[in-house]
Amino acid sequence: MTLKRKDAYNVAVVGATGAVGTEMILTLEQRDFPVAELRALASARSVGKTVTYKGKPVAVQELTKDSFAGIDVALFSAGGSRSKEFAPAAVKAGAVVVDNTSHFRMDPDVPLVVPEVNPEDVEWHKGIIANPNCSTIQMVAALKPLHDAARVVRVVVATYQSTSGAGAKAVHEMVEQTRAMLNGGDYPPAVFPHQIAFNCIPQIPQSSAFGPNGYTSEEMKMVNETRKMFHDDTIRISATCVRVPVERSHGEAVNVQTERKLTAAEARELLRKAPGVVVIDDLGAQAYPLATMAAGKDPVYVGRIREDISQENGLDLWVVSDNLRKGAALNAVQIAELLVGLDRPLCMVM
Ligand SMILES: NC(=O)c1ccc[n+]([C@@H]2O[C@H](COP(=O)([O-])OP(=O)(O)OC[C@H]3O[C@@H](n4cnc5c(N)ncnc54)[C@H](OP(=O)(O)O)[C@@H]3O)[C@@H](O)[C@H]2O)c1
Repeated sequence: MTLKRKDAYNVAVVGATGAVGTEMILTLEQRDFPVAELRALASARSVGKTVTYKGKPVAVQELTKDSFAGIDVALFSAGGSRSKEFAPAAVKAGAVVVDNTSHFRMDPDVPLVVPEVNPEDVEWHKGIIANPNCSTIQMVAALKPLHDAARVVRVVVATYQSTSGAGAKAVHEMVEQTRAMLNGGDYPPAVFPHQIAFNCIPQIPQSSAFGPNGYTSEEMKMVNETRKMFHDDTIRISATCVRVPVERSHGEAVNVQTERKLTAAEARELLRKAPGVVVIDDLGAQAYPLATMAAGKDPVYVGRIREDISQENGLDLWVVSDNLRKGAALNAVQIAELLVGLDRPLCMVM
C-alpha cells in the first residue's frame, strides 16, 4: 500500500529534539524529501524550543493524541512507550507511521524493513512499518548479498556500539566523564550502569535486565529481527553487544557460516556490488572501516574480509555504520521514500 501521490507531504517527527529525531530532520533535508509541513513533536519539556529545518526554525509542539491531523507520514523516535501510546492515534488520523523503537518490530502485522534487504515488505503494511534496531540494520545490509549467493546458516557477532546509540544524554555523560577524569575529578555514572570513559560495558541496553538465557534484549533483537527480515527462522545467530566510548557509529565483528563456500575474494566482490555497502579493505594501506570515517555518512562500510581459519565455509567481516544515520534516521527516511514512490540513491552522503 503506497501513499496517495502528492507533490509534497505533511511529515511529523516524534522525538524531534532527540539524537535520532535531529538526524531525521537533517536527513529529510539532505535527501530533499518533498515536505509540505514539518511538524516537530516532543515532550512538554521542549515546548518553547525550536528545531531547524532548511535553515528555518520550527517550533516544537507537545506530543498528544491530537498531534496528527493532516499528517501523511509520522516518523517516531521517542521511545517504545510513546510509540505504543501514540502511533495508533497517528494511524487513526490517516498517517503512515515509520517507527524507530522496538515496540512493533516483532508484531506479525507490522513489516520490519531495511530497503536494501526486503523493500517488498513495505507493501503489506497496515499503517505502521518498523525500523529495525541499529545493530541489526548494518549487519543485515552486509549479510544480504552473501545470503543471496551462498545462504547464511550461522552468524556469531560481537558489537562495539557508540554512546549515541543510547541517546543524547549518554554522549554527554561520556564526554563530561572523560573531561572530569582527565582533570583528576570524578563523574558518577547516571545513564550507564558503570563508568563509560576509558571502558567497555557488555550490557546493552544499559537499563534492562538480562534475559533468562543470559542474553540482553539488544542481543536477541539481532537474532529475531534478522530472521524476520530474511524470512528464515533457521539462521542460527549469537550476539554479544558491547558499549564502547565512541561518540558515533557502531562496529561489528561478524563471523558468518554459509551453506556454500565463498572465498574472501568472492565475498569482497559481492559486497562491492551490494546496494548501500562500501568496501574498504586494503590491508597494505591499513585501510579498513573506522567509526570516525562512518560518522555522518550513509553507507554500511565493510572491511577485514577474510576466510575463517577455524571452520569450513566461514568468513569474517568488520562492519561499521553510523547508528544515528543508516541505523535509524536514514533507514526511516528511505522507508518513507518507498512509501511515496520516490526513487533516490540509497547512499547520498558518502
Ligand atoms: N540512538 C540510536 O542510535 C537509535 C537507533 C535506533 C533506534 N533508536 C530508538 O529511537 C528512540 C529515540 O532514541 P534517541 O537516541 O533519539 O533518544 P534521545 O536522544 O534520548 O531522544 C528522545 C526523544 O524522545 C522525546 N520524548 C521523551 N519522552 C517523551 C514524551 N513523554 N513525550 C514526547 N516525547 C518524548 C524527547 O523529547 P524531549 O527532548 O522533550 O525530552 C526526545 O525528543 C528510542 O526508542 C531508541 O531506542 C535509537
